Amino acid sequence: MAERLKDKVALVLGAGCLTEGWGNGNATAVAFAREGADIIAVDINEDAAANTAELVEREGRRALHLVADVASLEQVQRAVNIAVETFGRIDILHNNAGINARGGPVELDEEGWDRVMDVNAKGAYSACKAVIPVMQRQGGGAIVHVSSIASVAWTGHPFIAYHASKAALNHLTRAVAVQHAADNIRCNCIMPGLIDSPRIYTSILPFYDGDVEKMRSARSVSVPMRRMGDVWDIAHAAIFFASDESKYITGAVLPVDGGITCAIPH
Ligand SMILES: NC(=O)c1ccc[n+]([C@@H]2O[C@H](COP(=O)([O-])OP(=O)(O)OC[C@H]3O[C@@H](n4cnc5c(N)ncnc54)[C@H](O)[C@@H]3O)[C@@H](O)[C@H]2O)c1
Repeated sequence: MAERLKDKVALVLGAGCLTEGWGNGNATAVAFAREGADIIAVDINEDAAANTAELVEREGRRALHLVADVASLEQVQRAVNIAVETFGRIDILHNNAGINARGGPVELDEEGWDRVMDVNAKGAYSACKAVIPVMQRQGGGAIVHVSSIASVAWTGHPFIAYHASKAALNHLTRAVAVQHAADNIRCNCIMPGLIDSPRIYTSILPFYDGDVEKMRSARSVSVPMRRMGDVWDIAHAAIFFASDESKYITGAVLPVDGGITCAIPH
C-alpha cells in the first residue's frame, strides 16, 4: 500500500453498486481505503452502502455506512453531521452518485427530468454546501465529482437529462474550484468514458436488444484504445485528485475514456 491517503477521512456519496460486483463507487471507496483512508459510505440503498463499508473494513480501515438520498439537502446534511461527529473531519468528498433516464426532450417526462437533475446536479450542490464549511474549518480538503463523457458529447443514446446534469457538474466543479481555492479546497471532476460496470448491463443493454456481446463489441470498437475502461481506472483517477499528488490541480475536468472524446467517428 502506497498510503497516499494515509489517515484521511473520505465521504463517498453513491458508494455502492447497482447490483452485485464492482461499480465506480465501491471500487473507489476500497481503493481509497487501500491508500490508508477511513470511509463514510453513503448510498440511497442501505445494503449497497453496508456492503461497501464491509469491503473497506476488510482492507483494515474504519468504515461507517449511512443511507441518504443525495437529492435531499436535508439528508446530505444529516450524513455530513454524523460523519463529522464520528470521524471528526472530512478530508475528501467523493461525489459518485448518479442516475440516468432514457429519452430525449420529447420522450422524457418532467418527473424523469427533475429526478435526474435532482440527483446528479442538485446532489453536487448539496454535498458542497454541507461539506465545504467543514473543510474551511479544517483548513482545506479535496472534492472529486464524477460526471461523464456524456457531459461533452452525444454517446449514441438519448439521455437528455443525463447530458445536461453532467454538463452542470463539470462547470459546478470549475466554479467551486475558483471560489474556494483560497480556502485550500480543491475541486476536480472525472469524466468516465465507456466503462464496463454492472450498470451498463441494465441501462445500455436494451439498446442492443439484450445482446451482451453485441453491446460489448460495439462499445469497445468505438474507443481509440479498442476497449472499455474498468471501474479501477476511475478509482485510480479519484485517488490522484484526492491525494496531495494533485495539490496544484483544481478545476480540472479529466476524461478517463481511452481517447474517445478526442476522436471524430471514422
Ligand atoms: N458505468 C459507466 O459506464 C459510467 C460512465 C460515465 C459515468 N458514470 C458515472 O459513474 C457514477 C457511478 O456509475 P456506476 O456505473 O458505478 O453506477 P451504479 O448505478 O452501479 O452506482 C451508483 C451508486 O449510486 C447510488 N445512488 C443512486 N442514486 C442515489 C441517490 N439519489 N442518493 C445516493 N446514492 C444514490 C446507487 O444506489 C449506486 O449504489 C455515476 O455518477 C455515473 O453517472 C458511469
